[in-house]
Amino acid sequence: MKLSDIEFRAMDSWWRRWGQENFEVPLFQRMGLELRDKDVLEIGCGNGYGAYLLNQRSPRSYIGLDVMEEQVEKARQRYPQYEFLVQDATNLHQFADGSKDVVVIFGVLHHIPEWRKVIDEVKRILKPNGSFFVEEPRGMDLKLFDFFFRWGHPDSDFGVNRMEEYLKSRSFKSSNKQWTPLMTMIHVQKNLAELS
Ligand SMILES: C[S@@+](CC[C@H](N)C(=O)[O-])C[C@H]1O[C@@H](n2cnc3c(N)ncnc32)[C@H](O)[C@@H]1O
Repeated sequence: MKLSDIEFRAMDSWWRRWGQENFEVPLFQRMGLELRDKDVLEIGCGNGYGAYLLNQRSPRSYIGLDVMEEQVEKARQRYPQYEFLVQDATNLHQFADGSKDVVVIFGVLHHIPEWRKVIDEVKRILKPNGSFFVEEPRGMDLKLFDFFFRWGHPDSDFGVNRMEEYLKSRSFKSSNKQWTPLMTMIHVQKNLAELS
């Protein structure tokens, strides 16, 4: 779903970039994020700052996608050296089964009422043993946040506990989980035995 104007602006603030660079990416790295020579997809790439940070880690290939044209336009203007697509993450038909080593999400599933479809697609496109790094706010925190700050997140049954249950039901192996004051960060891997 498209962001509200207030969230669109907030996602392009210095403090968002500071948090992503100094806190979120380093924490993912401590949780095992290793991108050298890997095929990487970032879902909900926003204005492209995540692309910049992830591409410092020498992936073999990187694609960032986002459903909002305005976001992808910004990303393309700022980082013309990277590849970005306007694409709804609930349908990733252009990516073949088992074609990605790593999928990364910085705070996106809570914007997608059909978030389970995204997880199904992530599972399909990951190689066996491929890694999925996802950070999301907890459902209750999100409701409180919207109550006070009116960012207008969509009505959804999304919650971190539900996401973890769903990942387990889709046979992802849990590798690591970190709790931070605002977000929960999770690293899971596709089961080695599974082809799609
Ligand atoms: C909270 S922003 C996070 C942006 C960026 N990852 C960051 O951390 O700054 C959520 C992003 O998810 C994108 N998004 C929402 N629904 C989407 C969907 N169905 N498919 C792809 N991207 C989506 C939004 O357009 C927005 O850029």
